Amino acid sequence: MFPDYLAPLELSLVGRARQAGILAVGVHDLRDWATDVHRSVDDTPYGGGAGMVMRPEPWGAALDSLVGAGSPATLVMPSPAGTPFTQPVAHELAGRGHLVIACGRYEGIDARVMTDAARQMPVLELSVGDVVLAGGEAAALVIVEATARLLPGVLGNPDSLREESHALSDPVLEYPVYTRPPVWRGLAVPDELLSGHHTRIAAWRRAQALVRTAARRPDLLAALDPATLSPADRATLAALAAAEPAAEVAAAPGADAADGTPDEPADDR
Ligand SMILES: C[S@@+](CC[C@H](N)C(=O)[O-])C[C@H]1O[C@@H](n2cnc3c(N)ncnc32)[C@H](O)[C@@H]1O
Repeated sequence: MFPDYLAPLELSLVGRARQAGILAVGVHDLRDWATDVHRSVDDTPYGGGAGMVMRPEPWGAALDSLVGAGSPATLVMPSPAGTPFTQPVAHELAGRGHLVIACGRYEGIDARVMTDAARQMPVLELSVGDVVLAGGEAAALVIVEATARLLPGVLGNPDSLREESHALSDPVLEYPVYTRPPVWRGLAVPDELLSGHHTRIAAWRRAQALVRTAARRPDLLAALDPATLSPADRATLAALAAAEPAAEVAAAPGADAADGTPDEPADDR
């Protein structure tokens, strides 16, 4: 209902991927498939209750015209009632050729639209977080950006995908990052990062990643395969377990997000 909301898809990483021909994005206005004089797309809910529900007819007509018969499209329905949109799901979507993202508004879309669409294509209802947005457009931006950066050729340096939060091969949070100057507002970059000693730097980063993950996302830590933990990892985790959690986080350089990290790295990750 708000195609202009998706204008950011012309910018930055996704915009450049489109210009490079790696990715094609089409934005459509649901009202183009409304049939009445007011171009209405909503109606009152059966069973009563607050708010309006998106009518099935415009959605059915829109999907019929956007997804040709036999097309290998996947329908993505952003919804706070969907399954979580996570990095593994983004990887899965990146492997699918054609995604159609249906942005809901009001109280959502008549459930028969999903049932009908599932007769001809895979349908995924995905939530971008345990929050309720006013519409699916912001969720669609999240889904497109997270998926597009996984396509070959989109990121300047594909190594970025190996060492970042939620990486498939190592699903923990990324360590804190720093750039010049070495001291800023009295805050020094940790010595390890200035040492030029690769093994020391790697060890520091790994320990910081575990400290952060333990403090902020213990669920991720609990889900790690113990067989993937090195002796050094075990030592870090044992030290964390033995200490007061809050004190550990405070002691971790850069554990606070407000640590002077630049807004957007050069490769626009
Ligand atoms: C106000 S919400 C509807 C919420 C719905 N009544 C419920 O409680 O589940 C309107 C639209 O915003 C989108 N939306 C809201 N929160 C979302 C989330 N966490 N993830 C993905 N999409 C979301 C969906 O497209 C949804 O149809």
